[in-house]
Amino acid sequence: MKIKSVMVVGAGQMGAGIAQVHAQAGFDVVLHDLDDDSLNRGMAGIRKNVSRQVEKGRLTAEEMEAVIARITPSTALEQAAGADIIIEAIVENMTSKTALFAELDHLAPPHTILASNTSSLPITEIAAATKRPEKVVGMHFMNPVPVMKLVEIIRGLATDDDVYETVAELAGRLQKTAVEVNDFPGFVSNRVLMPMINEAIYTVYEGVASPEAVDEVMKLGMNHPMGPLTLADFIGLDTCLFIMETLHEGFGDDKYRPCPLLRKYVKAGWLGKKAGRGFYIYE
Ligand code: CAA
Repeated sequence: MKIKSVMVVGAGQMGAGIAQVHAQAGFDVVLHDLDDDSLNRGMAGIRKNVSRQVEKGRLTAEEMEAVIARITPSTALEQAAGADIIIEAIVENMTSKTALFAELDHLAPPHTILASNTSSLPITEIAAATKRPEKVVGMHFMNPVPVMKLVEIIRGLATDDDVYETVAELAGRLQKTAVEVNDFPGFVSNRVLMPMINEAIYTVYEGVASPEAVDEVMKLGMNHPMGPLTLADFIGLDTCLFIMETLHEGFGDDKYRPCPLLRKYVKAGWLGKKAGRGFYIYE
């Protein structure tokens, strides 16, 4: 199947980024959220991002307007009726996701692929909330979506080969590289990344080194673009804790135990960049 129309559910940072890259690749996109405020914030973020490309001389002002015009913000989930693929990027909560997928299954035509941008929740369980588990797949974009080249594609237990091929081809049309992964906790990206971040937090917790020192070691010593604690602040410490808990619960192995300092920061509301404070302070 060739994808023509795309719907993105959730206009937060990830959903807005996903809508933007599709619109830039020439797709018509419906961007859905529950209220106009969320949609306006999402659209403002997209405009800011695309206008940076105009400032850099990579797009003309007309091209920018054409990209933005391809995105239709909407609070009507019924728009699902016109989509070949729906990509969900709502809150990382299984109850919210299964309720949404059951509703989308009801509203969308039988051929529509239902994809989730979840960073660690089981695709197989999300798929089980629908009557089309063979058309449910994980499509995990990385933040910031317009910059990062990877789309981790997660095959649920029942995902059809055709569906996998279709979303892998779609990722290619977005100038991104699809990597195939099976459905186990944290997939590959977060199974490898989050224990590293958690271990970095343990080194601070145990007084081995300061956050600045840990980040410097990993930046200069391993050539990472950001140190793990800066990256944790950028991702959100609540998200990091949620993913560590998913790994810990999913595998039952102590090696995934979230660091007590991570729990403490989350309890304090020090959630990272978005909260103005995490391992670092943001003005
Ligand atoms: N949105 C869009 N574009 C952005 C951006 C954003 N939020 N932040 C930076 N950019 C763009 C800049 O405009 C710039 O573009 P050009 O090269 O085309 O001019 C480019 O990215 C580089 O930006 P900067 O020079 O300002 O800064 P940098 O070199 O430090 O790069 C970065 C910024 C790309 C974020 C880089 O630090 C990086 O790669 N960090 C690691 C990001 C990462 O690991 N992401 C994965 C997080 S985990 C995840 O997403 C999965 C999960 O489930 C938790």
